[in-house]
Amino acid sequence: MSEAERDIARRLLAGNGGAAAGTARPQAIPVRPVRARRGRGKQFADHPAVVDALCKQAAIQQLIDSTGLPHPLYLSPEGYNGAVIRSGGRELVNYSSYNYLELAQHSRVIAAANAAAAQYGTSASATRIVTGEIPLYGQLERRLAEIYQVGDALVTSSGFLTNAAVIGFLLGEGDVAVCDSLAHASLVAGTQWAGCRRVTLRHNDPEALEALLRTSRHQFDRALVIIEGHYSMDGDLGRIAEIAEVARRYDCAVLVDEAHALGVLGPNGLGSREHFGLPGDLVDIWAGSLSKAMGSTGGFIAGDADLVRAIKYAAPGMALYTAGPSPSNVAAVLAGLDVLADEPDRLARLWSNARLFCAALREHGMNLADSESTPIVPVIVPGEIRAGYAAAALLQRGYNAGAILSPVIPAGTERLRFFLTSEHTESHLRTTADHLADILTIVDHIPDLPLGPESATVHGLPPGAT
Ligand SMILES: Cc1ncc(COP(=O)(O)O)c(C=O)c1O
Repeated sequence: MSEAERDIARRLLAGNGGAAAGTARPQAIPVRPVRARRGRGKQFADHPAVVDALCKQAAIQQLIDSTGLPHPLYLSPEGYNGAVIRSGGRELVNYSSYNYLELAQHSRVIAAANAAAAQYGTSASATRIVTGEIPLYGQLERRLAEIYQVGDALVTSSGFLTNAAVIGFLLGEGDVAVCDSLAHASLVAGTQWAGCRRVTLRHNDPEALEALLRTSRHQFDRALVIIEGHYSMDGDLGRIAEIAEVARRYDCAVLVDEAHALGVLGPNGLGSREHFGLPGDLVDIWAGSLSKAMGSTGGFIAGDADLVRAIKYAAPGMALYTAGPSPSNVAAVLAGLDVLADEPDRLARLWSNARLFCAALREHGMNLADSESTPIVPVIVPGEIRAGYAAAALLQRGYNAGAILSPVIPAGTERLRFFLTSEHTESHLRTTADHLADILTIVDHIPDLPLGPESATVHGLPPGAT
């Protein structure tokens, strides 16, 4: 630990009256109060979500100001977002890109994107149903249908919107969505869009699903079980076959989000279906993002041909009421799939990096939650300030990993999340593990302080007060 870091830790402790961890009731981190001033353009100033967001942002800024650490949020890379980036004039080893195979800067992918822009322009310039159906969409949809061994697929301009729109279309009042507790926000948004009941399933637990459906399936008309292939928070794999088996017995459909699975799982990177050797029709909808390993932007679904056709013709936000994905984005995915097949060493390097990094972190005694040593690596650092400090201190030493705080994950499981790519080197991974271990010895002495509106309350101003 450097003298500068010792000083920062001292100042953080001073923020708690100089008490050592565990010896005093933690005080909220001082935060500049948010004063609600209603009036023209200020109608939302006392909205609880606005107040909460502003308090949290102010507390983080205050932590940064009081410690002199670099701000870890909204970091701006000056070039490609891969294993190494330049930002703020310096080079960083980066763990915050889900460009797992670094396809986003592959020369063949860039050439394909450029060629598509030259041929079709930079935009589809229309919804698909009205003159926006460029031929590249069909080419990619056939590839995705082959990958998932299903009747058809549909590509869209956003992974988030795909999840929200497809669930919003399929479910409605009287139906239920059974959502894994770690399901992505886009999946939860879909259930809100649908106006159905949402029930939370204990993470990745087929027995819990069985118990839940046994007691409550009869209360609902249609039911959809929503899980992920490769969980983006814990880096564990969805127990698709067991969950689908239970779901089938209770007459439920299944949707699997493949956002972090396509390009990552399976001997050829073709996702969860390939990884587990599953029949494509074991689940009803394979949904996913083209923005992760595929190095592009957009989303997709794959499933039964009639169902996909119905969604294509009737689901708002999929092919209707929204422009088709950009030609360059779709061409990039087509080229990326070719690179995946032609350069299998990328996938091999990604996985050997995952094994090496997880082993190094475990040697230091770190808590990797449910990690299955995949390229998504969580390191649990409970406490918002602790996790925030760890991310900022790591960044100061030249390593960028995101701090994930509640409500994205349950309070008490705050973490640093490392996305690995095929291009991290052994030296990157080992030095990162060593630095993090050193930083965590400081973190142990930082009290677990809350962020958010409670902080404003402690300092005499209830949230929303004018
Ligand atoms: C599991 C999961 N699903 C869906 C999405 C949304 O994908 P996109 O970024 O393409 O909108 C994300 C994005 O982070 C994700 O992690």
